[in-house]
Amino acid sequence: MTDHEKEISSLAAEFERCRKILLALGDENRQHLILEMMQMGECGGVRVGAVTEKTHLSRPAVSHHIQILKMDLKEAMKVRHSVRQYEVRPLEAETVSELEKEISICNRESGLHIQLVKNEPKAFDGFMAHYGKFSGVTNYIAMIGKKGPGLAEACGYYGERLVLKAQQLGLNTCWTAMTYNKIKTAFTVETDEKLCIVIALGYGKTNGVPHKSKSVDAVAKADGPLPDWFKAGAEAALLAPTAMNQQKFTFTLKGNEVSAKAGLGFYTKIDLGIAKYHFEYGAGTENFTWK
Ligand SMILES: Cc1cc2nc3c(=O)[nH]c(=O)nc-3n(C[C@H](O)[C@H](O)[C@H](O)COP(=O)(O)O)c2cc1C
Repeated sequence: MTDHEKEISSLAAEFERCRKILLALGDENRQHLILEMMQMGECGGVRVGAVTEKTHLSRPAVSHHIQILKMDLKEAMKVRHSVRQYEVRPLEAETVSELEKEISICNRESGLHIQLVKNEPKAFDGFMAHYGKFSGVTNYIAMIGKKGPGLAEACGYYGERLVLKAQQLGLNTCWTAMTYNKIKTAFTVETDEKLCIVIALGYGKTNGVPHKSKSVDAVAKADGPLPDWFKAGAEAALLAPTAMNQQKFTFTLKGNEVSAKAGLGFYTKIDLGIAKYHFEYGAGTENFTWK
């Protein structure tokens, strides 16, 4: 690689890292909020109510925009935990619109047919859901795509992107493979497609608790000492949700190639897709290529 090409590639990597913040700052309402907060001159922090008075926006809308400005993806990974009990209230219109936007980007990139289901109480109102301690779930994301060997991993990867987006928007989530009923009228599954899994989401009654975790050494392998970026990738992957918290994935480094493998067990391919999304963000995609 020439010096010029290296410079372009490092600029591209830097731009990639800034994408989220550029998106957050790209919204006119948020630019207005930042200016108002600066003019308030309260360095110790200002209350949402006080900011709301200075804008034409509603209080939930102001909270929503502040959440977006506050939370980067790393933070979202740390504070995300599965939540099974939700308040029964509809999603705010702005939140729905942000989620729908992210869903269409994911569908365009992946060829999946992901759908947001709103105000549908039956899926999580059966015996299994109550047995699984779910309550108040009326909104969920149906992870649907063309049948085939890559479906489970793709659903994991793009579903986790949506989970973290939801977290950034101030929502809670829970991946659900078993403890729900398939309500066929709530979404569209074409004949060559399959519903892989759903993700419950909404305003949680709590924010959940951190899961028990394996160590980095248990899931990350290399010939020599682990480079810092590789360790950071594995640490991010260990924050990821996995079915029954099995964490049955391994990342192996050879040169600058990383191979990710799923262990044996239920839903481990979905888990692998989820863990790979976390790993990429933790490690930085400029540091490696997937094998
Ligand atoms: C693929 C997958 C399937 C899951 N299925 C269920 C489920 O059917 N019921 C449930 O209550 N939780 C389910 N979970 C949530 C896991 O139990 C949870 O992610 C795990 O215990 C780790 O906890 P955390 O998400 O709070 O970090 C599932 C998670 C994943 C990733």
